[in-house]
Amino acid sequence: MTEQNKVALIAGAAGGLGQVVTRQLAEAGFSLALLGRNQERLDALLADLNLNPSDHFTQSVDLTNPDSLNAIAPAIREKYGRLDLLINLVGGWAGGETLLEVQADTVETMLNQHLWSSFYLTQVFLPLLKENGFGRVITVSSPSATNPPPKTGAYAIGKAAQDALMLTLAAELAGSGVTANIIQVKAIDVKHRRQTDTTGKYTSWTTPEEIVSAVMYLASDEAAHLNGLRLPLYG
Ligand SMILES: NC(=O)c1ccc[n+]([C@@H]2O[C@H](COP(=O)([O-])OP(=O)(O)OC[C@H]3O[C@@H](n4cnc5c(N)ncnc54)[C@H](OP(=O)(O)O)[C@@H]3O)[C@@H](O)[C@H]2O)c1
Repeated sequence: MTEQNKVALIAGAAGGLGQVVTRQLAEAGFSLALLGRNQERLDALLADLNLNPSDHFTQSVDLTNPDSLNAIAPAIREKYGRLDLLINLVGGWAGGETLLEVQADTVETMLNQHLWSSFYLTQVFLPLLKENGFGRVITVSSPSATNPPPKTGAYAIGKAAQDALMLTLAAELAGSGVTANIIQVKAIDVKHRRQTDTTGKYTSWTTPEEIVSAVMYLASDEAAHLNGLRLPLYG
């Protein structure tokens, strides 16, 4: 099956990385289901990419709320009848406080954005992914999940929980034709500072284009045997 017949759901599509991933998948011929919190931003993204809104699905939704996600799943099934690629790029960062200082609310927000968005997306869309006998689930995580620096506890806890979900999913999907993989980056170099900066401050950052290349590979037929990876993309 070519990309022309494939359907990709991108959660957090209007974010810094989401926009670049959306552009690349559209250029490759994927049909798109784009989710985010803000409908105007999703519409503007389609307009920016010169994509006909009726060819693609966009919906503002709070991905930490399972009821609203359940409500849109039938619409995606009705429009496309299949799903091949589920990419969760919902983001958010919190840091600068020790575990003694950080408020429980901050930890809860990080768990909501990273763990619970992935949990609900998985529960709602995995059945559709599995129907084809082909599917890819991809998240973008951070080495903080396994090696957290001081004062990043809330974020590290959120990413570690999301990683545990993905690795469990990979183990449960083994042999099904659906894979689950994690791309790890330290920071995303949306402004391509690494190319111009001479201080060395950005050497470990990863450009969105580098991440997209990894996404495209993991999404390909050739990556069928790669499952449960934590793929480091930082220098
Ligand atoms: N940026 C980094 O340096 C870095 C480093 C390591 C890993 N990552 C991971 O890479 C991925 C992409 O990062 P990014 O920098 O592109 O993130 P970003 O620019 O902050 O974008 C995140 C997107 O998630 C959406 N979002 C947040 N909460 C949501 C919710 N409850 N329901 C629905 N949508 C929600 C936001 O929607 P709105 O448009 O409505 O705000 C936004 O479009 C994330 O998973 C992030 O954790 C990023």
